[in-house]
Amino acid sequence: MREYHLGLIPGDGIGPELTAAAAAVLETAARGRFVLRWHREDGGAGTYRRTGTALSAAALERIRGYDATLKGPVGLPEVRTPDGLEAGVLGGILRTGLDAYANLRPVRSLLPGGRRIDYVIVRENTEGLYASRGNGVGNDHAMVDQLLVTRAGTERIVRRAFAAAAARRGAPADGVRRVTCVDKANVLRSYAFFRRIFDEVAEEFPQVEAEHRYADAAAYELVAAPGRFDVIVTENFIGDILSDVGAATVGGLGMCPAANVGDGAAYFEPAHGSAPALAGRDRANPAGQLLCAAMLLDHLGEAGAAADLRGAVTAAFDGGGVQLAGDGTPAGGLAGTVSAVVAALASPTPETNVP
Ligand code: IPM
Ligand code: MN
Repeated sequence: MREYHLGLIPGDGIGPELTAAAAAVLETAARGRFVLRWHREDGGAGTYRRTGTALSAAALERIRGYDATLKGPVGLPEVRTPDGLEAGVLGGILRTGLDAYANLRPVRSLLPGGRRIDYVIVRENTEGLYASRGNGVGNDHAMVDQLLVTRAGTERIVRRAFAAAAARRGAPADGVRRVTCVDKANVLRSYAFFRRIFDEVAEEFPQVEAEHRYADAAAYELVAAPGRFDVIVTENFIGDILSDVGAATVGGLGMCPAANVGDGAAYFEPAHGSAPALAGRDRANPAGQLLCAAMLLDHLGEAGAAADLRGAVTAAFDGGGVQLAGDGTPAGGLAGTVSAVVAALASPTPETNVP
């Protein structure tokens, strides 16, 4: 039977319980089809506190060699670098270290009765405003962070977005495949450059509609009329913000997965944080982490198992009894939610996309 080597970074806060649940569900999805070999790697704020670095160079090297890595959320508010930044942040290490330049963030409504929302944000992951992380700040003013947009970096992320549009199941409400470029080309020349390259690359994909939105208008529309979005491509910082906006329209951050992929190694982490206040209390929503596991299976080429897992998460929320409390935590707890997903995996129904 085919074997895959998977990295597992439990992370901080609710990360260990979420990744344990997702690994167990992955084992269920794999049974009889392929074998998973797990390799645990330490990373995050806890690791920084213990060792002085959030992820060792040796761990990064090993992660580069795995078929894929499942990662929990990282970060603890009290663990800071000497210049006051969050110390558990692996983004800079893993995203740039692996050159995982595409951060794919699906936003999809699973909850019954809601609006049909099903799009993916393709967030540029290695440049943009995040590229200048770590620069100094004076006492009286800060005007040091700069936004990096390169031709090569923009071409590859825009191509990735159009490829994602071509490969997507389902279609937006009006049935038109489209990629929306989100920027602030009306204010910053860096974004105008991003848009110009988007327009050039869009010509290579005449079968997909290309359109633009300014970031503020996009934020509005993602709340007011999300149904028409299909694929959104955008700079790192805008993508960070818009993915949280999108999450708020589909039941909260706990619902949203993310894939960090490039041309080599890939890792999969939820779009949300480590929620230390919920840790160890059976309260975290595992949906985002479980949908990460489904994205990981897709990445491995195990489309059948991926569809089963995604279908099981959908079924658990839409008719399978899982309900969210007002604060976005599952009413039946983390364990109850995972049981509902495992039950749905045992009796697969065809993957339904949304209402
Ligand atoms: C995310 C997170 C990270 C980011 C933080 C933890 C650095 O918010 O993955 O969206 O800003 O990219
Ligand atoms: Mn974020």
